[in-house]
Amino acid sequence: MSSSSSKKVVRYICNNCATAHMKWSGKCSGCEQWNTLVAESISKDDVKLYKINGDISIYELDAKVEQVNRIEIGISEFDRVIGGGIVPGAAILLGGEPGIGKSTLVLQILSKLRSLGMDVLYLSAEESLQQIQLRAIRLKVVEDGIKVSCLTSLQEIKRAIDTVKDVGFVVIDSIQTIYDEAIESAPGSVNQVRSCSFELIRMAKQKGFALLIIGHVNKDGAIAGPKVLEHMVDTVLYFEGDNGVQYRIVRAIKNRFGPANEIAVFEMSKNGLEEVSNPSKYFLPVTSENASGSCIFVSMEGSRPLLLEVQALCVPSYLASPRRSVVGWDANRLAMLIAVLNARLNINILDKEVYLNMVGGLKVSEPAADLAVIAALISAARNITLDRETVFFGEVGLSGEVRSVVHIESRLMEAKKLGFKRAIIPMNVEISNDSGLELVKIEHIKNLLKIIG
Ligand code: TYD
Ligand code: MG
Repeated sequence: MSSSSSKKVVRYICNNCATAHMKWSGKCSGCEQWNTLVAESISKDDVKLYKINGDISIYELDAKVEQVNRIEIGISEFDRVIGGGIVPGAAILLGGEPGIGKSTLVLQILSKLRSLGMDVLYLSAEESLQQIQLRAIRLKVVEDGIKVSCLTSLQEIKRAIDTVKDVGFVVIDSIQTIYDEAIESAPGSVNQVRSCSFELIRMAKQKGFALLIIGHVNKDGAIAGPKVLEHMVDTVLYFEGDNGVQYRIVRAIKNRFGPANEIAVFEMSKNGLEEVSNPSKYFLPVTSENASGSCIFVSMEGSRPLLLEVQALCVPSYLASPRRSVVGWDANRLAMLIAVLNARLNINILDKEVYLNMVGGLKVSEPAADLAVIAALISAARNITLDRETVFFGEVGLSGEVRSVVHIESRLMEAKKLGFKRAIIPMNVEISNDSGLELVKIEHIKNLLKIIG
């Protein structure tokens, strides 16, 4: 606790990486970002908080470890994304834009945990009890015995957690709206976010409850506050896509207790979030009408294959540097493939405006999408339509060669399941092809041109 008589020290903390500086500077020396330093004053008395008291134990590793007891929540999409259930003592960070469904999802999780007999606590600093109650009525979880409190001070929150005996799961909604009374900066500032999370995570490990922290995202889509928050927790989940569409994707971008990059797909209905166990059908085109520039790609999202439509559009440009617009993919990678098309196939769209869209709001980061993007670009540039029953995947190199990708069999099986007949894939792959799809293996994008153009 700071006392008014204690001497204050002013430090400058980077909003992005939390590096502390003694002097203000325009650029952070830790992450080299500009204008990210904010002043914070700490009392000299606070420094002793960091001193360690008591004995220190040092261990040697041995094989006798206690198995982690996971608790399956019973929402299988969510259980999978967090690696098979929640781990007591683990801290999960859930980020997403306002209105995407964070509070809805946690209420549904809490209700499921109640049905397993677990004591759960929902701490909201954003909404009133009445608002939470209305949402709970809508979700039909109001009578499940979820304990709720609307608190904003960390000290009060800690007392509330202590009051619930054997609490198994605690939710903080949201980390940017709570504050530690011992720190003078405003809620949401780097120092507050870091200090509150640190205390809550420490409490979770000590008492053995699982902690879910909801975080707001800034305009770039990253969780507001220091990046260190992501380092402090065990699992980082993000709601992806925009809230204009009905389905919601939750992606694990970090997971100490399971595979990262796994996704969960939900649909927002009038009764809350419903699981979508076969997401591919959501991302595929609804019309059977053939349009140029459209191509079906089989992506891998974590352990699950997912079919989606890649759309490209090329139009004449009157600008000196024609517009390139990409939704759901990497703009640099698109620029590279446009150059490859020009250099290796003599298809010149450098002077055209190019738009590329991974339909459905999913962010694709796999190079395996290259071949589908190339096919969509050729189709758009030449105004030819591609066969509706064919899927594409493969990485494309700078010389136009088509390289192998991982999980080919699962991709093919998924395409087969959804009624596709043919797959254009890389040449150098040894697979048994249990899917029964007609496989067209290609070595170079020149071969692709022969097939589609
Ligand atoms: P919410 O969970 O409050 O989002 P967040 O906590 O991320 O800000 O709710 C998101 C939206 O979902 C809200 O606009 C209302 C809508 N909604 C439904 O469509 N159905 C429902 O059953 C509920 C509870 C909310
Ligand atoms: Mg909310």
